[in-house]
Amino acid sequence: MAGAGAHGMRWIEALRNTQGAELVGIVDTDAARAAQARARLAAEVPVGSDLLVVASAAGADAIVNVTPPQAHHEVTLAALASGLPVLGEKPMAATLAEALQLVAASAHYERLFMVSQSYRYNRNLGRLRRHVEALGAIGTVSAELYRAVRPGGFREAMVHPFLVEMAVHLFDSARFLLRRDPVAVYCDAFRPDWSWYDGAAAAAAVFEMTGGTRLVCHGSWCADGEQTPWDGRWLISGQRGTASWDGRGVPRVDLGDGMAPSDAAADVDAPQGNLLELALREFLGAVRTGQPPQSTGADNVMSLAMVHAALASATTGQRVVVSDLLQDAHEEAMANASPEWRPELERMAPARAWLSVERHR
Ligand SMILES: NC(=O)c1ccc[n+]([C@@H]2O[C@H](COP(=O)([O-])OP(=O)(O)OC[C@H]3O[C@@H](n4cnc5c(N)ncnc54)[C@H](O)[C@@H]3O)[C@@H](O)[C@H]2O)c1
Repeated sequence: MAGAGAHGMRWIEALRNTQGAELVGIVDTDAARAAQARARLAAEVPVGSDLLVVASAAGADAIVNVTPPQAHHEVTLAALASGLPVLGEKPMAATLAEALQLVAASAHYERLFMVSQSYRYNRNLGRLRRHVEALGAIGTVSAELYRAVRPGGFREAMVHPFLVEMAVHLFDSARFLLRRDPVAVYCDAFRPDWSWYDGAAAAAAVFEMTGGTRLVCHGSWCADGEQTPWDGRWLISGQRGTASWDGRGVPRVDLGDGMAPSDAAADVDAPQGNLLELALREFLGAVRTGQPPQSTGADNVMSLAMVHAALASATTGQRVVVSDLLQDAHEEAMANASPEWRPELERMAPARAWLSVERHR
């Protein structure tokens, strides 16, 4: 495991509790944190600040990357290049160009890079997804998330904490629910006067998704008072009716005959439990069988693209077309590509078209 911070502590528990996984080494650039994590694990595993040294001493088979976003590229690339598959925390990289490079490296070294989008494993989100199928064409999706989050650390100094750290969950859940990708976005991000964040802790975005669906996402991380759940609150308006989810209980659907709750007994076999453990189980299964998981790096680029398109729109005040953004990111990625995986990156031009083919293969 690379990154033994606040979330790394949760990953220690997930690794401990998941059959088939064993935490064999801990890497952190802060030696004290690595030592603290080892004490929590209560096992004499190798610890250190150099990923490859620790991975080799530990005989690691894979890396779980729980470092902050700006270190994701460096850590994941080093692991893939040394032959280790990676389960990485969101966001998959700090920039879209870095994300495309990681997709190329994963293809070149033939090692899995999966992004843990843990919210996808919530059973109720899966139920809502089945309702969406019954609604026919989808007109509008509304997703909102309001919380008073006091995280301290790097997030309170970020320029766009809500869009970068939080919105990717809502955006990725929307792609999961709709099975659709983003086309373009208008976004406004701002800092409410009372905010304890330096940057824009609140945002509102309207996406056009493929097929013409509009996704309206808004929220704040400096919202005292009534809190939405972390999964957000959802309302989906389709051709045949409406589905909604308060983010807590079972979703509800109204096909013109009144709101009815989901039949929660219909999917008792669906996996459930701790969301990180479910992500880890999918990763382990994918490494063993070679079957791609749902959130490969190539798939997750589109969720990250939603974040960066929203950021670009908030910065310029203009509607941003996602394929233009991917094209720019591809050029940036090519500019400092390693000769090793450069051919894979070239194959991805134009990036948008390549991604849609690759992801639906
Ligand atoms: N999916 C979720 O629900 C969820 C929740 C919280 C955090 N996260 C994600 O997890 C990641 C980590 O978040 P956190 O809250 O634990 O951050 P954190 O700052 O508490 O911890 C990060 C740790 O990584 C270490 N680190 C930094 N650069 C490193 C490098 N190059 N190699 C090894 N270690 C390095 C730091 O010293 C620190 O100990 C972020 O990407 C965040 O977005 C996801």
